[in-house]
Amino acid sequence: MTKENTTTELNITRAQMIQLLNEDLAGEYQAIIAYTVYSQVLKGAAYTDIARELEAHAGEELAHAIKIAKQIDYLGGMPAVLPKPVKTSNDPVAMLRADLENERETVGRYRERIRQAEAMGEFALSETLRAIIIQEQEHEIDLSAALDINVPLPKEPSGKKIIETK
Ligand SMILES: [Fe+2]
Ligand SMILES: [Fe+2]
Repeated sequence: MTKENTTTELNITRAQMIQLLNEDLAGEYQAIIAYTVYSQVLKGAAYTDIARELEAHAGEELAHAIKIAKQIDYLGGMPAVLPKPVKTSNDPVAMLRADLENERETVGRYRERIRQAEAMGEFALSETLRAIIIQEQEHEIDLSAALDINVPLPKEPSGKKIIETK
């Protein structure tokens, strides 16, 4: 396998793993906040179902944060306390797109983290991350479905007029 084919550094130290997991934890905090807020401010009949799903996501993201914090503590690190920044918008499509982008990034990060955990021989960590990534992929699917089904997406979401009726 050539070096150019991999962007992932597999052989990392315990300290590097702690740092990466803390970045993952900051992403989980971001997700908790975004889903908490977006689930309450998404308005309109077209968004009733997805708003309910976002509320459920918020609870799942909290469970992920606790699991990641536990693993950081197990590795001898101190769990971080600050979230990644959360985008705010009045535009439902912009909110859902922000969530979708974050979920895609999260799935990519955990894919990498699982490989790194395996390479370290940290199989319990790997199992924990595998359980989390299953839910992140479900979140990604929920959001993609909501965006495709409810919203005719323009290339650039240009503003207010997005809500259509069925
Ligand atoms: Fe999560
Ligand atoms: Fe998620």
